[in-house]
Amino acid sequence: MKKFPKNFMWGGATAANQIEGAYNIDGKGLSIDDALPGGPERFNIVNKPDFNWQIDPDKYRYPNHEGIDFYHHYREDIKLFAEMGFKCYRFSIAWTRIFPNGDETTPNEKGLEFYDRVIDECLKYHIEPVVTLFHYEMPINLVTKYGSWKNRKFITFAERYVRAVIDRYSDRVKYWITFNEINSALHFSVMGQGLVKSNGADNKQNIYQSWHNQFVTSAWAVKYAHEKRPDSKVGCMILYATMYAYDANPKNQLARLKENQEFNQYCADVQARGEYPAYADSLYQKYGFKFSDLETKPADFELLKEGTVDYISFSYYMSTAINITDNSLPTANGNLVGGVKNPFLKASEWGWQIDPTGLRIALNELYNRYQKPVFVVENGLGAVDHPNEDHFVQDDYRIKYLRQHIKAVGGALADGVDVMGYTPWGCIDLVSASTGQMSKRYGFIYVDKDDEGNGTMRRYKKASFDWYKNVIATNGEEL
Ligand code: BG6
Repeated sequence: MKKFPKNFMWGGATAANQIEGAYNIDGKGLSIDDALPGGPERFNIVNKPDFNWQIDPDKYRYPNHEGIDFYHHYREDIKLFAEMGFKCYRFSIAWTRIFPNGDETTPNEKGLEFYDRVIDECLKYHIEPVVTLFHYEMPINLVTKYGSWKNRKFITFAERYVRAVIDRYSDRVKYWITFNEINSALHFSVMGQGLVKSNGADNKQNIYQSWHNQFVTSAWAVKYAHEKRPDSKVGCMILYATMYAYDANPKNQLARLKENQEFNQYCADVQARGEYPAYADSLYQKYGFKFSDLETKPADFELLKEGTVDYISFSYYMSTAINITDNSLPTANGNLVGGVKNPFLKASEWGWQIDPTGLRIALNELYNRYQKPVFVVENGLGAVDHPNEDHFVQDDYRIKYLRQHIKAVGGALADGVDVMGYTPWGCIDLVSASTGQMSKRYGFIYVDKDDEGNGTMRRYKKASFDWYKNVIATNGEEL
C-alpha cells in the first residue's frame, strides 16, 4: 500500500434531504424527497400508476421531513467532524431552500443564509466544503408542472439555481459536484430525474432525454464556476458498481462490456470527454429510438465540449457479476445495480456485496479511462447498530469494512491512480435513500432516532469515531 499524499482530502459525506429535516421551515418548498414514505416499500409506492406526489401523513410516515434535524444541529455536528480531523465535508444544497418552487426568479434569502452558516462553520475548522448541487432532489412543483428533467425547461430553472448558489458561495467554496449518482437513473429514475411510472419512467427515451438535459446543465455549471472563480474544481458523480463477467464464457464477457458501458461509463464519458461515445447509438437502438429523437440544440454540443469536468467523483459500495447464460443463478440485491450473486463475496445485511478489491479496480478503471483525478465521495457499510445503555456502539464491523476499503484506495495509489480524497457516506447517521430507514446506519456518530421517528436526536460517538480520527491523524498510516 502506498502512502497517502499530504493533501489527501479525508472527510465525510451527507445529503441535504437525508439530514436537514426542517422540510417546511424558513421558506423551503416541497422537494420530491418530502413525498417519499419511510420503509423499504418507498419506491414501490411512488411507482404506483396513479402516484401524484401528494403527501399523505395519515397513510405514511415521511422520515425526510425531520431527517436528523441537521438544520438545527449543524454547529454541533460540524464540531464533531472537526474533532475527527475532517479535511473536507461533502454536503448538498437543497434546491427547494433556494428556489422553493423552482420557477421563481428571485432566490429565498433565508435558504441562502442557512448554507452561509454551514459553510462558515466548516471554514472555522479549516474544513473544505465539497458541495453537491443536485443530490437526489428537485422541487415537486417543477415535476408536477413540467413533468421532470425530461422537459428541457428544467435546464433554465436549474441554471438559475446554480447561478444563485455559485454567485453566493464561490468566494468560500472551491469544490463542487454537479449531479449525484447521475447514472443511477438507468435502473431507478425517481430521485435523480423525478421520473416515476406515472410520468414516464418506463420509457427509456425519457431517461436519456433527462440525461441530455442534465449533461447540458452540468457543462454550464462547470463553465460558470470557472468564470466566477478560475481555480474552482467541478466534478461529475457516478454510482460506480465494478462489474465482473460471471465466468470466462465470451457471451458473459460481452454482456459485461455492454452493461458496463451503459451503466458505469455513458454519463461520465459525456461529462468528462465532452461528447457522446461511439457506442451510444447501440444503446438507443436497444430501446427503439435514435439520437435524433432526443431534443437537442446545436449549441449544446459546443457547451458539452467547453464544460468538461475537472475530476471524477463516485460512490462505491459494492460490485456485481454479469451473467446472461444461466437463468437459475440468484440475483444480487442492492444500490440500484442488479446482476447476480458473486460466490466469492459476502454481503451486508441489505444484500450489498462487499468487495474492497472492486474499489481498487474502480479507481484504476476510472483514472485510466479519463486521466482526471478521482475522488471517492461515498463508501460505507449500512448496518444495524446496537447501542449499549450509554448509547455507545462498538461498530467493529464498520471499522473492518472501512479499513479494507481504505487499504484498497492505498492499493490504487500504488497503482499510480491520482486519488484526491475519501469521504465515507453518512459520516453521521441519516435517513437511508433507498429504504427511508434510520436503522440502516453508516455513521461514526450515532443519532438517537428510530424508524418510527422516536428518539432524542442526541448524538453519540461510536467506536469508529476514534478509529477514523486516528486514520486521519496518521494520514492513513494506522488503519
Ligand atoms: C447513494 C446515495 O446511493 O448511496 C446516497 O448517493 C445514499 O444518497 C447512499 O444514501 C446509501 O444508500 P442507502 O440506500 O443505504 O441510503
